[in-house]
Amino acid sequence: MAYQRSQQEVEQALGEHSYLRAAGGFSMQHTLVSIYSSSTVVATPDTVVRGRFAASDDDFAGEQLLLNYRNDNAKLGFQLGIGRFYEPDAILTSCHADLEEDLREAIALPKPKPLKAGLTAVVTQRRSARGFTGKPVELTDLSAILFHCQGTSGELPYGNPAAPHGIIKLRNAPSGGGLYPISLFVHAFAVNGLPPATYEYLPYAHAVAKVADGTGAEVLRSPDLEMTQSGFAVTFAYNLYHNSRKYGDSGVVFGLIETGAILQNLHLARTALGLIGCDQGSYDKTAIERQLGLDGHTRHVVHVTVVGQGE
Ligand SMILES: Cc1cc2nc3c(=O)[nH]c(=O)nc-3n(C[C@H](O)[C@H](O)[C@H](O)COP(=O)(O)O)c2cc1C
Repeated sequence: MAYQRSQQEVEQALGEHSYLRAAGGFSMQHTLVSIYSSSTVVATPDTVVRGRFAASDDDFAGEQLLLNYRNDNAKLGFQLGIGRFYEPDAILTSCHADLEEDLREAIALPKPKPLKAGLTAVVTQRRSARGFTGKPVELTDLSAILFHCQGTSGELPYGNPAAPHGIIKLRNAPSGGGLYPISLFVHAFAVNGLPPATYEYLPYAHAVAKVADGTGAEVLRSPDLEMTQSGFAVTFAYNLYHNSRKYGDSGVVFGLIETGAILQNLHLARTALGLIGCDQGSYDKTAIERQLGLDGHTRHVVHVTVVGQGE
């Protein structure tokens, strides 16, 4: 369709009807550009718009993220996104997050044992080590590690404290808005009492559910260590929409922060149990996502770590 008016005429019309500029800006930035248009972010930052028209292949994806993510509470989009999560249905969804766990084939883990090591001792003794001996890890140890990562240990009543409408179950690692967008997958190579396979950890039930018959050793192969000599590897997966509907682009940042918090709990727990471990930065994201059945669009592998017995 050809333009009917000159730029000068358009400017004049916008000057007389300033609301048109706001409506047009909203439509351009929000409806057409933002993937969160149905949810959170109202105004897409200029840098995103520029990036759309002048994308460069050698940009760091992280640069784009850092230029665009923001958690400024004063921003209207952020407020709208957060506001929706205070509505009763949203809160009750959080209260019933345990119903998302499919328990039909779940394997209950043993009651997690409390770890008595001193905090300063485990923080300072935690080291990365790669010399796995192939000796199996006990299921009670796996249970304790997963519990320290993501197990539930607190409750937040919703509504009247005397007669709450629901209770949000809180986990051992913090999470923005209590939304818990990180899932843990266990690739069990040698765990006494758990057949070798790949499992998802179900924090509310403190159980694991098999997601693949194989362990995924072939896709997890590492140049730095002998994966199959370890006890198990843990893959961290981030569910983008789980918290981005509320927090916009800050959701990704929160997800990565939460990965770090869970990861540190894992390392401290395995140190307390006398197990060695090492993080893996050079994993094949797509191959692991395929092995786990994650689409790589809404759910992303964001980290891999390995735990086992040392000398
Ligand atoms: C995100 C992340 C990725 C890592 N990737 C690898 C890796 O691919 N291979 C490896 O051998 N160590 C890896 N490491 C371990 C670091 O090399 C190690 O933490 C660092 O050298 C400090 O030593 P420390 O953990 O013993 O204190 C990684 C650590 C982190 C936090």
